[in-house]
Amino acid sequence: MACVFTSNKTIRVCPFLNGDVENPEPKTNTTWIHPNLPSKCTWKPGKSISESPHNCVPLPKEPKILSNILEKIGHTPLVRINKISKAYGLKCELLAKCEYFNAGGSVKDRITLRMLEDAEKAGILKPGDTIIEPTSGNTGIGLALAAAVKGYRCIIVMPEKMSMEKVDILRALGAEIVRTPCTRFDAPESNVRVAWKLKNEIPNSHVLDQYRNASNPLAHYDTTAEEILEQCDGKVDMIVAGAGTGGTITGIARKMKEKCPECKIVGVDPEGSIVALPSSLNTAEDATMEVEGIGHDFIPTVLDRAVIDQWCKSNDTDSFLMARRLIREEGLLCGGSAGSAMSVAVKAAKQLKEGQRCVVILPDSVRNYMSKFLNDKWMITNGFLKEDVQEHYPWWWNIKVQKLNLLAPLTLLPDVNCQKAIEILRDKGYDQAPVVAESGLILGMVTLSNILSSLLAGSAQFSTPVIKVIYQQFSKISLDDTLGKLSHILENDHFAIVVHELEQYNADGSSFMKQMVFGVVTAVDLLSFVTRKNNSQKLNDGTLKSASSEMKRSLAECEKKTEDF
Ligand SMILES: Cc1ncc(COP(=O)(O)O)c(C=O)c1O
Repeated sequence: MACVFTSNKTIRVCPFLNGDVENPEPKTNTTWIHPNLPSKCTWKPGKSISESPHNCVPLPKEPKILSNILEKIGHTPLVRINKISKAYGLKCELLAKCEYFNAGGSVKDRITLRMLEDAEKAGILKPGDTIIEPTSGNTGIGLALAAAVKGYRCIIVMPEKMSMEKVDILRALGAEIVRTPCTRFDAPESNVRVAWKLKNEIPNSHVLDQYRNASNPLAHYDTTAEEILEQCDGKVDMIVAGAGTGGTITGIARKMKEKCPECKIVGVDPEGSIVALPSSLNTAEDATMEVEGIGHDFIPTVLDRAVIDQWCKSNDTDSFLMARRLIREEGLLCGGSAGSAMSVAVKAAKQLKEGQRCVVILPDSVRNYMSKFLNDKWMITNGFLKEDVQEHYPWWWNIKVQKLNLLAPLTLLPDVNCQKAIEILRDKGYDQAPVVAESGLILGMVTLSNILSSLLAGSAQFSTPVIKVIYQQFSKISLDDTLGKLSHILENDHFAIVVHELEQYNADGSSFMKQMVFGVVTAVDLLSFVTRKNNSQKLNDGTLKSASSEMKRSLAECEKKTEDF
């Protein structure tokens, strides 16, 4: 997709982009454009602004009456952080750029508007066309919002990991949503590849491609960075921002290198991602990342790592705890990646002196994560928060999952086809089954409703192997976890996979931990344990020797209720 255009509508080949820009149309319907092709941008720090290869748009003034909601994109507030800054003993001024005040609720509204309008100006996008985008959600919301206002069809391809809140907002905005498994970016079923596959099949459709589109960093170069400079009277000493596509940090950093070259740019990259430099920082490559919107297993084309002065790794726990603190102590209703940036900023800004200024980008709002990090139970279940020590737990609370009478699980091999999987599940009376490799390794989960929706959406046929319709966003619990933890999980999920970890050795003597499926546990298993008639008898065995009289009372109550039932 080209994105910098002259007024007579001929495409000025954007040096940010790669060679595909002159011929953006794929030749066959299997073609896709890699989101990590090397950039051909000729922009260099130290050159004068007049030598810039980029087409720049001046920062518009905010109108008094908006002609539509898209004019409420940009001009976001810069807010002083008070209590947290004090708690960390910072001498400098700590400021938050609150991007969740954009019309669609995130920093991505800026780039979606710019990418759309640049494509419209170039005559690439025409009324009634379809926009397709692979995204972690916020770009999707920005595009769906602009598509709703401007009248385009919008298809968003999003990994399963992303929150249901984002899905519901996208639906409300009229977008069509395709969910993909969380796989490597270049796997055939990744959201990037599925988006290109749809583009190759749907006439008059376009992938604006935030990973390669120069309008992405340019939106931040022209607006976010200009606003920060205006709000700080040109004096900024440090900027801290996370990198997803890298558009935000690249655009801001390039403007700072030109207008405020002393400003230090700190990039935030979550553990599990490979974006940070030096690459020795990226140690935990297989760590799972719960924070959404930042981190990748490839280097996006638009990310210019040459303009980032320092990279710092963030982790999920610090990110979520800091995001909750920003809400609780500063009243900033931000998302998890805002917590990542701030958790890094409070450490990095220690090097700044009194009178200096650190600006932190808060990309989106807690609105996207109401059922996730805002929820205490979710935090506890996922190990990000310790449980309060309550005095009145039910008697079964601290009993281990291994005490449940779980049946050996029904598992499917990855090459079982959907037709056969439906028959097996139906015959055995199950709604779901783990899909495991011959080695016993868990590959994912397949459910009847998942198979059904893939068949209806046309993304799978009866002959398709189940490996194509599995999903990986399910809760796991170990045999040593408590039934209390299990009950938290089952408040949100229909089931959890009971896993058993074993250490396996390679021929070279190195070892790794391998997770095997021990069973699938549902609310019925927990309830039948809790209400089992002979529980009072069990109170006398070793497991429950320590049971208090209160536990016995609650058990008796429980049994009574079962009898009444
Ligand atoms: C929540 C959140 N934080 C941070 C970012 C990073 O922005 P960028 O893609 O400009 O690097 C994104 C991008 O999707 C996001 O959704």
